[in-house]
Amino acid sequence: MPDWSAVRRLVPLDPTVTMLNTGSFGPTPAPVFDHVTELRRQLAAGPTDFFIRRVPPLLWESRHRTAEFLGTNPHRLVFTTNVSVAINIVAGSLDRLVGTGGEILMTDHEYGAMEWTWERAAKACGLTIRTFRLPTMATDPAAIVAAAEAAFSPNTKVFFFSHVLSPTGLVLPAKELCAAARQRGVLSVVDGAHAPAMLPLNITDVGADFYAGNLHKWLLAPIGCGFLVWHPGMGERLEPPFVSWGYHPDRYRPGTPNLTDRPDQRDDFGSTPRTRFLEFDGTRDVCPWLSVPAAIDFQAELGWDAIRVRMAELAEYTRRVIGERHGLNLATPAVPGMHGAMTAFELPGGVNAGKLRAALWDRRIEIPIVDRPDRLLLRVSHHFYTTEAEIDVLSDALPEVLAAG
Ligand SMILES: Cc1ncc(COP(=O)(O)O)c(C=O)c1O
Repeated sequence: MPDWSAVRRLVPLDPTVTMLNTGSFGPTPAPVFDHVTELRRQLAAGPTDFFIRRVPPLLWESRHRTAEFLGTNPHRLVFTTNVSVAINIVAGSLDRLVGTGGEILMTDHEYGAMEWTWERAAKACGLTIRTFRLPTMATDPAAIVAAAEAAFSPNTKVFFFSHVLSPTGLVLPAKELCAAARQRGVLSVVDGAHAPAMLPLNITDVGADFYAGNLHKWLLAPIGCGFLVWHPGMGERLEPPFVSWGYHPDRYRPGTPNLTDRPDQRDDFGSTPRTRFLEFDGTRDVCPWLSVPAAIDFQAELGWDAIRVRMAELAEYTRRVIGERHGLNLATPAVPGMHGAMTAFELPGGVNAGKLRAALWDRRIEIPIVDRPDRLLLRVSHHFYTTEAEIDVLSDALPEVLAAG
């Protein structure tokens, strides 16, 4: 087992802050920060050399390492700035994917901006959106699959869900949910914003038509790292969110071999015609994408099993010190396999969210208060570098901050 207090020193967090919010934004560990900073130094010193000669092999390597880490094929993976862009690529291609008419089915715990993404796409294509109620405190993943199965209708064209729910950290049985969609001829789209590095993820095994995720949350890659992966055969139905030099691979350099007919062949840019078509958006800082292997190596060296054990230990500690000590009801099942590194609690009725947030930040405690339709939730993120002392700080402050709210 690593010495977790020594490991903590490799994650240069502001020492004056109690950081319990990796779920919103992951910090950048020192080795990853050094890596991305060195790349940015090279970019600043010689931008043309950097973009034209240095980036292509590095981008190709990063695509391969990322695909290997995620359990997928590098030819079916594009980097994006974040999961929002990745879901927008799929939603923006809705007419080519499912035509017009029908419904998009989703859980009642999806991330707000993603709901709006589908809302706009549905409106443009004449689809409707229907949500179904998740049994969020289920003790068996089968209950979640049963709720989804009961919700499908003959009209359902798309099924969208989060692999790990943002409000509570509940882990959904993604493989079984995608299989249920496939059996019904329904397109499955998974929002994996929190899954990479929080869960042992193999996207091929999940079997979604589209799997989108973030690498800048739990993998701790520099901010600006997301991805989209598609099932074999689905990539050709995607439209890029913007038109770039990747749009007409053959017209970019007249006289070069016809690339449109070989969309999966490696090109001169660290991509393939198909991935560049979707991924390239003009001149941009690609250093975060090129630093994903450094982020993978950092946690791999700590040991994935050790990290998962540490997350589980901290989940247990959080349940005891926040939930049991203060009599707060859990909003995340304690069942192994149904939670990862986020644990949420129901707050008592009548608490004012704005005042509570202010009282927490007055004490330099960084933690989200989640607005749900029926109540407020307190969501604790506990990654491997979180300390018991930080959870104690929150616990000790709770009576006072709740009174202030
Ligand atoms: C479930 C879920 N989806 C999407 C997002 C959006 O992530 P990003 O802003 O990195 O695109 C988040 C962010 O917290 C999330 O929790």
